[in-house]
Amino acid sequence: MTSDAARRVWSPSNAVPPPPPPKRPSAPPGPPGGPPPDAQPTGFASRLSLRTRVGALAALGVGLAVTLTALAAYLTVSSQLQSSVDENLLARARSAVSTTLGDPNQLATVPGAAIVATDVRIALLQANGTAIVARGTDTSPPMGDTEVEVALAESPQSVRTADLRGDRYRVVAVPAQPGFALVLAQSTEQTEEVLDRLRLVSFIAGGVGIVLATWAGLSIARAGLRPVRQLTQAAEHVAATGQLEPIEVTGSDEIARLAHAFNAMLAALSEARLRQSRLVADAGHELRTPLTSMRTNLDLLAQSEASGGLAAADRTQLIADTRAQAVELSTLVGDLVELSREDPPAASREQVDVADVVRDALSRVRRRAPGVVFSADLQSWIVPGDATQLGRAATNLLDNAAKFSPPHGTVTVTLHDGVLDVCDEGPGIADEDLPRVFDRFYRSSAARGLPGSGLGLAIVKAAAERHGGSVEAGRSPSGGARLTMRLPAASSAALD
Ligand SMILES: Nc1ncnc2c1ncn2[C@@H]1O[C@H](COP(=O)(O)OP(=O)(O)OP(=O)(O)O)[C@@H](O)[C@H]1O
Ligand SMILES: [Mg+2]
Repeated sequence: MTSDAARRVWSPSNAVPPPPPPKRPSAPPGPPGGPPPDAQPTGFASRLSLRTRVGALAALGVGLAVTLTALAAYLTVSSQLQSSVDENLLARARSAVSTTLGDPNQLATVPGAAIVATDVRIALLQANGTAIVARGTDTSPPMGDTEVEVALAESPQSVRTADLRGDRYRVVAVPAQPGFALVLAQSTEQTEEVLDRLRLVSFIAGGVGIVLATWAGLSIARAGLRPVRQLTQAAEHVAATGQLEPIEVTGSDEIARLAHAFNAMLAALSEARLRQSRLVADAGHELRTPLTSMRTNLDLLAQSEASGGLAAADRTQLIADTRAQAVELSTLVGDLVELSREDPPAASREQVDVADVVRDALSRVRRRAPGVVFSADLQSWIVPGDATQLGRAATNLLDNAAKFSPPHGTVTVTLHDGVLDVCDEGPGIADEDLPRVFDRFYRSSAARGLPGSGLGLAIVKAAAERHGGSVEAGRSPSGGARLTMRLPAASSAALD
């Protein structure tokens, strides 16, 4: 009596052989918490923010351009200025040769004060090195071998810069009367002043340019990286709150594409999360029934022990039932784990006669559905495969047929050439439900009032596909449901 009570709560007393222990996924390579294998070394540049780096790069680029431009301008202007000063000085020297200044007899009579007023120094240099200068104020220019060479007619003219008592002069020498060179010198002070000013202006312009470039670089970087900042904030928001809400996308540039990709990832993640939570919820529901059944059996055992004990046969039966339920439970857990993972584990491979498997399933289902008639026509069909998986698939098909059959309805089971057909006389499956009944957790609205979680046919489909086969739902000749599972004899597909 106790075992009957137990069976009413939960199904088979004949245990399905225990499934192989579920394989644990192999540990990920590398020590946990160790550095990621592709960790990049962090340098100074990578410690700076992207914005600072873009700004610094712009400043560097513009600064370099400004510096080179200023340098080129300075060199060009200074050489132009120098050559125009030189030409001017040479022209003045040549024209002075034909005046009184070029005559050695007359130069000595010219007052030096008059020459100083014209901002030049002048002398007639003889080939022997002696010079004739103006009278009075000292107006003699710096003179040396270079100028003597011109007096000796060894060189046509000379131009150089020389120091005289701490001042710098540009000194030119042109031939005058034979044996004489007219030496003319002009202070470089004015030229240097102009060049100093040019240097200062270039320096200020360069500095301002660099500051402006830094500012512009930082502003451009800030504006350009704003969408990146928004995307980062959105990702941080998701990470902090766990809410997988899509972020707003504007424009169609690279950042917008990144945002679209991010949204697609969020959608996939939320879909996976939804699937997982549904699996957990339904798994909980599925597991509750056998657990309740086991608890009832154990309660019965405890109560009967307290009230003087059970007959030995009943006790043995009760314990056997409980063990069978435990086995069923672990099989169920194994199936749920299998269903929940994306990659199918390699099933244990053996030669299985599908007819035997269906016969076992039939005997189990007959016991728990005594009001339904089962008519079976099974031909032997050997497949390489996993008897446990195939047994669960057949049981699920027969359970469904029994569940949806009217009282005393007939379930017809045939197995011919690897095609297992289960037909019943129930309401059948509505056309719109046909493509979806093999989905995990799918249950038609008509079936919601009946027990079940919508995993049964998903397990059938997974088992068939892992044996290289397929499943199909249709209508039976009597108008009920017809579920077909095809299993190829020597499948090389899924089990290899
Ligand atoms: N023989 C059948 N007759 C009518 N409808 C069926 C039949 N078999 C399956 N269905 C429909 O397909 C749905 C999915 O079946 P499935 O076996 O996957 O789930 P379930 O029987 O509701 O629950 P579970 O098998 O997990 O206990 C059922 O809810 C039902 O709507
Ligand atoms: Mg079912």
